[in-house]
Amino acid sequence: MTHARIIGIGAYAPKRILTNAELGRMVETSDEWIVQRTGIRERHVADESEATSDLALKAAQQALDRAQVEPGEIDLIVVGTTTGDMAFPTTANIVQHQLGCKSAGSMDVYAACSGSIYSLSIGSQYVQTGKYKTVLCVGAECLSRITDYTDRGTCILLADAAGAVVLRASDGDAGILDTDLYSDGRYGDLLIQPAGGSRNPATHETVDKRMHYARMKGNEVFKVAVRMFGDAAERILSRNGLTAQDLALFIPHQANLRIIEAAVKRLKLPMDRVFVNVDRYGNTGAASVYVALEEAWTSKRLNPGDLVLMAAFGGGFTWGAALLRW
Ligand code: UT7
Repeated sequence: MTHARIIGIGAYAPKRILTNAELGRMVETSDEWIVQRTGIRERHVADESEATSDLALKAAQQALDRAQVEPGEIDLIVVGTTTGDMAFPTTANIVQHQLGCKSAGSMDVYAACSGSIYSLSIGSQYVQTGKYKTVLCVGAECLSRITDYTDRGTCILLADAAGAVVLRASDGDAGILDTDLYSDGRYGDLLIQPAGGSRNPATHETVDKRMHYARMKGNEVFKVAVRMFGDAAERILSRNGLTAQDLALFIPHQANLRIIEAAVKRLKLPMDRVFVNVDRYGNTGAASVYVALEEAWTSKRLNPGDLVLMAAFGGGFTWGAALLRW
C-alpha cells in the first residue's frame, strides 16, 4: 500500500519571547498561576514585520531543504491556519509564490488548533490515492494578532510559530498510517473570534468592542477537549488493532499541560512517551503538533519504525488524530 511518508520536516518560531513575568505586568496574573494551571513558562510572538506566511515560509523552506526537494517538485501546498495574512489570497498561495512552487495547487484549511491534523490528513490523502507525489503540509499561526492582551484568560495561552512537513509517496512501511477528523459545531461559542468575517464585518463598533480578538470560555473548552482528545486517540488506535502500549511516542496538541496529562492518564501512557514543549511555546494553534514533531525529531526522540500518535483539538469544535510509522 502507498503511504505518505514524511521526508522532510521544519519549524520556526519568532525570536521575541514573551515570559510569564512580562504578562504579569500586563494583566492580573502570575508566573506561579500560569505554570500551575497551564504548564506554560514562555511563548514566542511575532514582531510587527512578521505575518503568518513569513513564519510558514521559514518552516517550509527548512522542510524542503532537509527533504532535498526542489520547490518545483511540490504538487500541492496545504496550510492549516486561523490567522492567515488576510482573508484572501490564502496563506498557502503566498507561500506557493514565495517558495517558487510553480506547479503546485494551494489551499488553506481553517480548523482552528486542529489545523495541524486536518492539513496533514488532507495532504496525505492526495498522496495515498496516487493523485500527487509530493505534498507540502504546513501549520502556521500568528495568534498574538488575535489575542486581547487585556484578557488574562487567553493572553497567557496563545502564541506564534510554524511547522511543516514534506510528504512523498512511498511503498515502504513508514508514513501516515491513518487519520481521523471530527467536528461538532454545537460548541462554536466556546472559542470564537466574533468579528472580521461576513457575520460581523469590521466596523468602528466591532473594533471598539474588541470583537476581533479570540474569546474563550476556557473552563468549558478544557472539559470538552479532554473528552474529545481521549476519544479520538482511543478510536484510531483500536481501529488499527493497537493499544497505547504500542506507541513509541504520543505528540498531542500543546494547549495546556493539564489537558495533556488528563488524556495521557486515560490512555494509561507513561509521561516519558509523551512529547511536551508547551512550556516553551504556549498554544501555537495549527502549528503546535508540527512544531512538536520537529522538536521530537531534532531531539532524537523519533527512531525508524517508531509508532507515533498525534492528536489535536480546537475551536469549532474540531478535533482529530493521526497515526504515523516513523
Ligand atoms: O486549543 C484549544 C484552545 N484552548 C484551550 O485549550 C484552553 C483550555 N482551557 C484552559 O487552558 C484553562 O481553562 C485556562 C488556563 C484558560 C483557565 O484555567 P482554569 O483552571 O480552567 O481556570 P478557570 O477558568 O476555572 O478560572 C478560575 C479562576 C477564575 O477566578 P474566580 O472566578 O475563581 O475568582 C479566573 O478569573 O482563575 C481566574 N483566572 C486567572 N487568574 C490568574 C483566569 N485566568 C487567570 C490568569 N491568572 N491568567
